[in-house]
Amino acid sequence: MNPKERVITEFKRKYNQDPKWVVRSPGRVNLIGGHTDYNDGFVLPMAINYATWIALRPRSDKKVVVRSLDLDGRIEFDLDDFENTDSGWGEYVKGIAWALLEDGLQLSGWEGVLSGNVPIGSGLSSSAALELSVAKAFSLTSGFSWDVLKISKIAQLAENDWVGMKCGIMDQLISAAGEKDHALLIDCRTLESSPVPLPAGTAVVVLDTNTHRGLVDSAYNERREQCESAAEFFGVSKLRDVNLDEFHKRETEMDPLSRKRARHIITENDRVQKSAEAMKNGDAQLLGNLISAAHKSISEDYEVSSKELDLIVEIALEQPGCFGSRMTGAGFGGCAVALVDEDQLDSFVTNIMGQYKNKAGLEAKVYVSRACEGTSVIEM
Ligand code: GLA
Repeated sequence: MNPKERVITEFKRKYNQDPKWVVRSPGRVNLIGGHTDYNDGFVLPMAINYATWIALRPRSDKKVVVRSLDLDGRIEFDLDDFENTDSGWGEYVKGIAWALLEDGLQLSGWEGVLSGNVPIGSGLSSSAALELSVAKAFSLTSGFSWDVLKISKIAQLAENDWVGMKCGIMDQLISAAGEKDHALLIDCRTLESSPVPLPAGTAVVVLDTNTHRGLVDSAYNERREQCESAAEFFGVSKLRDVNLDEFHKRETEMDPLSRKRARHIITENDRVQKSAEAMKNGDAQLLGNLISAAHKSISEDYEVSSKELDLIVEIALEQPGCFGSRMTGAGFGGCAVALVDEDQLDSFVTNIMGQYKNKAGLEAKVYVSRACEGTSVIEM
């Protein structure tokens, strides 16, 4: 049973009626633009065909009751009185309620069941998928309008200040605003986005190294600080404001670590914009080359890759029909992404699984991904 069928079936079993709504919000894969979002830069993610689903109905009181079919347990809290109890996935639900209330919205209670198939902790944004599906549940039951930019910022606030992960805006925005068959070029300063089509005849393949990200939050926050001090060196608020020429003029005056971090962000912003152009021109090979260059940069200069991620990218690049590959998400484990010629997809998948197993001693998981629309609702 897929997660949509599961939540509907379980809802009916538990409440003896159909849910009033079923909401869905997808995970994402970022084609290129690693760690640029919190530098006010550019990213090129797409929402994928793996999502979180919630079947729900309104309540007449102020309680929120959600049961997860995948992770242990259930969460119940009163919207007038709740606090952070560090209770795992439930804090994402409470965090969204908190951030919506902070924004001045009036919330009413609801209850339902939740299930999803976005791999957790693999860099495919299972948290943003959960956050946006919960936000959608609140918008339906509390009757406030769904403004994609506003809701994405609210979800980011929940993750930053309730959960404590100082992420940028990319994951929440793409989960909310994804478009079928397209990636979105997002300017993370203005939050303007434009859809760009995937090159015809290619497939976006997610390669899960089957390693989980360790220490990711602290290393992530550390990278943010390093970028901030590099921006200070250039006298700007964000590295987005430094172009390649300015960087090259002054890079030798920088300390070696700041220089590497800044070089990744500044060259990556340039690659993202070139990638969007390549996609508009249907140039899969150029896009692939930019993606592979992005991996080298994020691995060597930004140092958020891992030996398994480097290995799976290296294996991918050796396969016929692979245009390019890089790690995706925050890094330190989790997934890479590859752009592959559709005609060679089957052998690509078989070879990756076999060779990764031989060399890493681990089973890779491979997800052939389609670009899908963002958060959506089925009225029952
Ligand atoms: C995580 C964060 C995003 C982004 C990526 C790296 O997914 O949630 O905001 O910074 O890492 O590109």
